[in-house]
Amino acid sequence: MNLHNKFDFHVKPGGRLCGKMRVPGDKSISHRSIMLGALADGVTNVQGFLEGEDCLATLQAFRAMGVEIEKLEQGRLMIHGVGLHGLKPSEYALDLGNSGTSMRLVSGLMAAQPFDTELLGDASLNQRPMRRVTDPLTQMGAVIGTTEKGTPPLKVKGGQAIKAIDYGMPVASAQVKSCLLLAGLYAEGKTCVTEPAPTRDHTERMLRGFGYTVETSNNRICLQGGGSLKATDIDVPADISSAAFLMVGASIAQGSDLWLEHVGVNPTRTGVIDILRLMGANITLYNEREVGGEPVADIRIVSRPLNGIAIPEELVPLAIDEFPALFIAAACAEGETRLTGAKELRVKESDRIQVMADGLLACNIAAEPTPDGIIIQGGQLQAGRVASHGDHRIAMSFAMAGLRSQGEIVIENCANVDTSFPGFVTLTKNAGLNIWVES
Ligand code: S3P
Repeated sequence: MNLHNKFDFHVKPGGRLCGKMRVPGDKSISHRSIMLGALADGVTNVQGFLEGEDCLATLQAFRAMGVEIEKLEQGRLMIHGVGLHGLKPSEYALDLGNSGTSMRLVSGLMAAQPFDTELLGDASLNQRPMRRVTDPLTQMGAVIGTTEKGTPPLKVKGGQAIKAIDYGMPVASAQVKSCLLLAGLYAEGKTCVTEPAPTRDHTERMLRGFGYTVETSNNRICLQGGGSLKATDIDVPADISSAAFLMVGASIAQGSDLWLEHVGVNPTRTGVIDILRLMGANITLYNEREVGGEPVADIRIVSRPLNGIAIPEELVPLAIDEFPALFIAAACAEGETRLTGAKELRVKESDRIQVMADGLLACNIAAEPTPDGIIIQGGQLQAGRVASHGDHRIAMSFAMAGLRSQGEIVIENCANVDTSFPGFVTLTKNAGLNIWVES
């Protein structure tokens, strides 16, 4: 987070969300486009790339390792791949800012390079658990140092022989899965990862797009080390995780009728639509198509009263980033919403269970955190001052709460919204949200 650039969101009550718009590109796919493009043979053209701080941190890291990446007009990149064995040591430590995805995925790649690398994060990333990647990477032969608490910075020792692993992941995490698959590209033998529940599969899809064979059967994903990646073109769809704020906003604000265009609707990401529909939301997908190996659709949301539900646990990994927004939907719903099986939310950019409960309470909504979830009683949102703890998704979720509040909502410390959703204020204001920024 840029501490010299602290600002708050102010949201006045009322408004509705209408019109047609496209939210910025998918963060997960944008990260992976840089990584695989950099490691491919040939030139990869990317369009729709998310120019948010997290993905730019990944871009900068690969430039620092000698990859030429041309940034053309809005969201277009030309990546001159150096091949799997073409990265060069960076002259300085790689600063990955707020981005857990960069840290965890890049650690898998760095484990297999012939040179040492140091990976740094900001204050939030420096609190996040890394043993979930360093433990299995160590089993593969990597040498990686963390702090005593198992947090960044990560010191990766190069020049190790990496062996394939057959790993049962204790947590459902696409970052862990992707980290090990990327290390597996360099391993001797066949690396297999079994997930306890399906998680986003962008790495597998994109590897196949780059001509690499990845076998998937049930929750087990395998690849053989020692192949190569062939450059391709990538069209990054709009991020369903960014669309989620507007889906919630348009559902809760009476009179809303909103179209979101070209949204990625990969079935490993659409838990937010399933959960909102279970709550009674009116969401329709149009023009479903496949773009560059990823399903895409236009989404129409028309406001409709919501009801509280017990959220099915199997949907949790499929909506893992959308719970802050869904908790706002729950606050506006009739009755109780209960989430269980989601203790991973406590180790995201903030402890999203505690921080959301505190924010909801500050706006007069009864919210009871539990070790692995939350219980929210729908009610009337009131004016309140909310601490975002520098977490982009907390900030954007409470901005939507303003649509149904009886007084102004102030959200502190919103600079990190730029990590995933640059242009959030302009886009939501154009859609009808009464939002402004104060330094
Ligand atoms: C991501 C995976 C998820 C998600 C994160 C992006 C990815 O994290 O929360 O925002 O791009 O692989 P986990 O794998 O830790 O659940």
